[in-house]
Amino acid sequence: MVVFAWILPALLPVSAIATSLCSNGSELAPDVSHAGQSQKGPDSYLVKDSYIIKLKNNYSIEEHVDYIGSNVSSIGHDYYYLDIFSGYAITTNRSVIQLIRRDPGVKWTKSNSLLYPYTPLLSPAGRKDQMKPSSRQQLKRWRPAIQSVPLSFTLAMQSAAQKLSRFTRDRPLYWALDDAGRTVDIYVLDSGIDINHPEFEGRASNFRGWNTSPFVPLGDPRMGDLAGHGTCVASVAGGRLTGTAKHANLINVKIGDVITTELHVISAIIQVITEHKNKKRTFSRDLFAGSVINWSFGGYDTNLFGLESIIQQAKAHGILTVTAAGNENTDAAADPICKSKDIICVGAVDQAYRKTPGSNYGEAITVSAPGHDIVCAAPSIYSNLYTAESGTSLAAAYVSGTTAQFIGYEKLRSDTGTIIQRMRDNWNVGFLQGFPSRPATPNTFNSNGFKKPNKSPDQPYVGAPA
Ligand SMILES: *[C@@H]1O[C@H](CO)[C@@H](O)[C@H](O)[C@H]1NC(C)=O
Ligand SMILES: *[C@@H]1O[C@H](CO)[C@@H](O)[C@H](O)[C@H]1NC(C)=O
Ligand SMILES: *[C@@H]1O[C@H](CO)[C@@H](O)[C@H](O)[C@H]1NC(C)=O
Ligand SMILES: *[C@@H]1O[C@H](CO)[C@@H](O)[C@H](O)[C@H]1NC(C)=O
Ligand SMILES: *[C@@H]1O[C@H](CO)[C@@H](O)[C@H](O)[C@H]1NC(C)=O
Repeated sequence: MVVFAWILPALLPVSAIATSLCSNGSELAPDVSHAGQSQKGPDSYLVKDSYIIKLKNNYSIEEHVDYIGSNVSSIGHDYYYLDIFSGYAITTNRSVIQLIRRDPGVKWTKSNSLLYPYTPLLSPAGRKDQMKPSSRQQLKRWRPAIQSVPLSFTLAMQSAAQKLSRFTRDRPLYWALDDAGRTVDIYVLDSGIDINHPEFEGRASNFRGWNTSPFVPLGDPRMGDLAGHGTCVASVAGGRLTGTAKHANLINVKIGDVITTELHVISAIIQVITEHKNKKRTFSRDLFAGSVINWSFGGYDTNLFGLESIIQQAKAHGILTVTAAGNENTDAAADPICKSKDIICVGAVDQAYRKTPGSNYGEAITVSAPGHDIVCAAPSIYSNLYTAESGTSLAAAYVSGTTAQFIGYEKLRSDTGTIIQRMRDNWNVGFLQGFPSRPATPNTFNSNGFKKPNKSPDQPYVGAPA
């Protein structure tokens, strides 16, 4: 394992240099660093002297070293080869980057940039839900393998085929496969998870059993959750009472809660892909059904080519990435990750299917889900076992859990196309309200398909093999 302890150096804007010509007429590889001002963040969101180099397909690091005539690890420091990504990270100066760009085998170079987590808001009054699982949990069987838990209205919204009202006499139920998400790994790239919380029933674990995370650039790298964010979202994806996929494995890939960088997230995803590939090699589909990556980070940079590229690679390996649309009440297309066609970008609505005040919107959004006043697990630093939080990250967590159900049932560990198809076949159309008319937001609301009328009785959701 390579542990790289980058301390965020002072931030310095680096000017963008477009593809240009060397004095002898040969072309330089493009430097795709974006140096324009971002509305979201500080002026300087590029990490000083920290660069990401992407090599062209099938161009080896050895060929690259041969071409530039220097061992890359000797012309900079914190050199770190990014294998699956096909490139490397290096801390060095711009003259060295100019040298690197001369190699026609280099696809692009860019400055590493800062990302910030979409922190959910504690709901008004910091609601402390008194959940009494054993007395309130009722198991009902519809077909073999279906359970319903009358605990949370927002959860019930995820299995309904019609709009639900909070004001009906009977509390609506959440219907899901009895073993939804079993043998599916949900990687939670977040502030950490309190893996001992009873919501997880021992299904949560730290990535590779690590006690500290190599992916936290700033703050406490110990694996627990000091922010309360990761534990909450993990429970909304896979908690036994609060989650959509009640049997999924939740894997804590701590990235930090203050700030992170593109390179740290790329490094984390590379290792997640490696883990997924190893499990595919080692286990049958019955023992390992597949993986989902879930995170809620936004970029200050309007160009995150490195992240986009690794998300695309994860997808090619069978891992779908789900992200929050962000909580700034703005066009989600400003976030290059949300806009990427390879990611599921999730907006948030309240209990009346109305856009939450903060949710971003627009064409870049794939689907929406509840993200207001969501009951979820609180980490041990809180005095209560449960809390309620709001934000698009909660909506993203519901969607991650829902995809884990499809993955688990059909063992879709290599086939992200089918996962996306199942999402589309089962989501509800026309439920959303209160989104701006321009840019239009897809009027699609997440559903696990359980109550869909257009399926045969032996299908748990539309499209499922009977
Ligand atoms: C241009 O200069 C670079 C770097 O000095 C060199 O590697 C390359 O071969 C030169 N190209 C030509 C066409 O002379
Ligand atoms: C890269 O190499 C592999 C194996 O040699 C080959 O299958 C693949 O087509 C190559 N990709 C490109 C883009 O050349
Ligand atoms: C580059 O240098 C490192 C350490 O300085 C060494 O381990 C590595 O083998 C060298 N690589 C090449 C291609 O010479
Ligand atoms: C850039 O780094 C290289 C390699 O460490 C060094 O030789 C060179 O002097 C540096 N250039 C500047 C302008 O700092
Ligand atoms: C998914 O990512 C978002 C953003 O970090 C986070 O808020 C949410 O908790 C995550 N959900 C799960 C299930 O990990």
